Amino acid sequence: MMNDIKQQIDALRQTLEQANYDYYVLNQPTISDFEFDSKLKALEALEAAHPEFYDPNSPTQRVGSDLNREFEKVAHAYPMLSLSNTYSEGEVQDFYNRISKDLNEPFEIVCELKYDGTSISLIYENGQLQRAITRGDGVQGDDVTANVRTIRSIPLKLHGDDYPAQFEIRGEVLLPWASFNQLNEERAAAGDSLFANPRNAAAGTLKTLNPKVVAQRKLDSYLYYLLGENLPADTHFDNLQAARRWGFKVSDAVKKCVKLDEIFAFIRYWDVERKNLPVATDGIVLKINAIHQQQQLGWTAKSPRWAIAYKYNPEQAKTRLKAITFQVGRTGVITPVAELEPVELAGTTVARATLNNEDYILNKDIREGDTVIVEKAGEIIPQVVRVVSEDRNPMQTTAPFDFAARILELGLDAERPENEVFWRLRKPNRDQIVRRLIHFVAKPCLNIEGMGESVVTNLYDAGLVKTPADFYALQKHQLLQLDKFAEKSAKNLIEAIAASKHSELWRLIHALGLPNVGIQTAKDLARHFKNLDDLAHADYDSFRRRSVSEKTGRELIGETSVIAGIGAVVAQSIITWFSDPEHQDLLDQLRAAGLNFTSAATNACALSDLTGKIFALTGTLPTLTRDEARQLIENAGGRVSGSVSSKTNYVVAGAEAGSKLKEAQRLGVSVLNQDELLALLDSDAPTIDRDDTAAAVVQGELF
Ligand code: IVH
Repeated sequence: MMNDIKQQIDALRQTLEQANYDYYVLNQPTISDFEFDSKLKALEALEAAHPEFYDPNSPTQRVGSDLNREFEKVAHAYPMLSLSNTYSEGEVQDFYNRISKDLNEPFEIVCELKYDGTSISLIYENGQLQRAITRGDGVQGDDVTANVRTIRSIPLKLHGDDYPAQFEIRGEVLLPWASFNQLNEERAAAGDSLFANPRNAAAGTLKTLNPKVVAQRKLDSYLYYLLGENLPADTHFDNLQAARRWGFKVSDAVKKCVKLDEIFAFIRYWDVERKNLPVATDGIVLKINAIHQQQQLGWTAKSPRWAIAYKYNPEQAKTRLKAITFQVGRTGVITPVAELEPVELAGTTVARATLNNEDYILNKDIREGDTVIVEKAGEIIPQVVRVVSEDRNPMQTTAPFDFAARILELGLDAERPENEVFWRLRKPNRDQIVRRLIHFVAKPCLNIEGMGESVVTNLYDAGLVKTPADFYALQKHQLLQLDKFAEKSAKNLIEAIAASKHSELWRLIHALGLPNVGIQTAKDLARHFKNLDDLAHADYDSFRRRSVSEKTGRELIGETSVIAGIGAVVAQSIITWFSDPEHQDLLDQLRAAGLNFTSAATNACALSDLTGKIFALTGTLPTLTRDEARQLIENAGGRVSGSVSSKTNYVVAGAEAGSKLKEAQRLGVSVLNQDELLALLDSDAPTIDRDDTAAAVVQGELF
C-alpha cells in the first residue's frame, strides 16, 4: 500500500517534471494546461497526506512557499569572476592573436550569446539541485535556492545517468521581455515604481524574500559554464551538449569557430538576429574550447585569459525632439527633459529622455525641433546623445536653447549656483513638494502600499496632504472624494497608512529626505542612535571623533568617524537639516501622529558579546576601510589578528579576499561580509530588507 503510494507520487512527479521540461526548456508543450493542473493537484494531495515522502525537488515545490527568510551567505567553491570586455572587432582580433601566440598550436573558439541577466551558480549532487548561489562579491554570494526552485527551466532532478556525482553549472537568470513588460504594466497600474530593465528586474526578483512572489514572475535561465572534477568531456562545447541532455536550457546559438572571419560572421549575424530573441542580450562571449588549453592560458586576478566578451554598441534610434521641458526633483534640482516623437528602442517605446543639465544641452547644441539620436545602453534612462545636424533645416531659424529664458517664462524662482551644473529652485514649489511626499511613502521609505505617485499628487492638489504628517490625518471619506477610490480601496489605503507608523526607524530616517542620506546611511544612523530624537539632537562630536596629539594634548591631528562611513560633510548636513525649525515641527507632528521613532531593541549591551573574540580581515569591504572595521571590532571588545588560525572566531572577507579566506574555509572558521559584521557588532541592527534591491533599481525620481 505504502509502496503503491510512493510509486504514484514518483510517477506524477516524473510526468510533471517532463511536462515542465517540454514546455519551459524545449518550448514544445506536450500536455494541456488542464491536464498539468489536475495532475499537480493530485500530487499535492498525495504529498499532503504523506509528508514522509516530502522532497524539496518535487514539482509541487516550484510554486514557492510563503516563508520569508534571510539569505545565507555561501562561499563559492570557485570564485565567480567576470570577463574582460571588448568593444571592437580590432580588440577581438587582438585577443585571437594573443591566443595564437600563447598556445602556438591549433585551437577552436566557441562563440555564444552574452545574456544580459543576473548570474547564478547551481550546485548539483547525485543529479539533484542542492544549492543556487548568486554571484555576490565573487567570493561569496547569497543562497537563493528556494527562489531558484521556482524557475521552471531549471531542472530540479537531472535526466539520464551520465552526470558527475557533484558539479557546478553557471548561467544567467533572465526575465523575458514579455514578462518584464507585463510586470511593469502591473506595477504601473498598482502605482508601484517600475523596473528599469529586465536585468534589474531579474536581479531584484531573485533577491526577493518571498519565493511565492518569485514564482509569479516567470524567470527563465540559460546555462553556459560547467565546473567540477569529473566533467564528461574535455571541451567546453561537448560539456554544454551534455548539460543540454541532462535537462538544462543551453542556448542553440553556440558555434565552434577556427578562423577569425567565422567569429566576425557570428558577431554580425547576431547583432541583427538578437533583436528577435525573447530575452535581452548585450554581446557575444568567446571561449577557448579545449579545457586543457583553457588551463594552459589560465586566469588573471579578475577574469579568465581564455575568454572575452564582445559588447554590442548600445542600441540607438533616430527621432524628433518635440520640446524641452523641465522636471523638478525632490531636492529642487531642475532636470531638462526631451519630449520625443515616440520611437521603438531596445524593446520599449521611448517618448522622453534626459538631457541632464544646461551644459549638456549647450555643448551638444540641442534645439527644440531637431532630429536627435537617442540611446539606451541597458541603463535606466534613455539619453539624447547627439543632434543629426544634416537634418536641421538651414532655412529654419531656430536659436540655441536658452535655459535661463525658459526658467523665466515658466515663472520658476530658480538659480544656478556658482560652480554647479544644476539649476535649483530657491523655494520649494508644488512639484518639489509633491516629489518629497512621493519619496516619503515610497518603497524604500515608509512603503505605504497603494499610495502611488498619482494618488499623492491628487491628495496634494485636493489640499488634503501638504506635509508628510498629513498622511496620518487622512480619513476614509476624504479619499472617497477623490477619483478612483471606492470603499474597499479607501479602507485598504487607510490601513496601509496606519500600518506604516510601525515601520523600522531607518525607513523613517530615509523618508525624511536629508541631503546625502541614502538607504545605507539611514540604516547606519538608526543602528547607531536607536532613536530619532537622539539623532536630531546629535552634535558634531557624536558623528566624528577629533583626535588630539597625545604629546601636547592640544594639536588636532585628525578626525575619525564614530559611525563608519559618515564623513564630515554628511555629519554637517545632518546637523544643519535638524536645526531647521520647519523640520523640527515636522518631527513633532510625526511624533504626535504616533510614528515609531526608535529601533526595535534599545539596549546596547549586545556589544559585550565580542569580548575576547578574535577576528581577521581580508579583501576590500564595500564601504568600511580596514582601519574603520578594526576600530569597530575593538570598540566592541574584539581583537583583530593578522593571520588565521584555529583560534580565530571570524574572518571578515571582502572583494578580492586573499589566502586568509581560503585558510578560514579550510579550518571551518565563520566567514562574514560587511553587513554581517555590522549586524554582529550590533545585534539589534535593522534587518536588511532585500526587496530594497528591487526598489533601488526603479526609474528613480526622473520619469
Ligand atoms: S562565461 C569564466 N558565458 O557575463 C567565464 N558569461 O562579464 C564565466 N554572461 O559573469 C562566464 N552570457 O554573468 C559566460 N554565454 C556566457 C554569458 C556570460 C552572459 C555574463 C555572466 C558573466 C558576465 C561576464
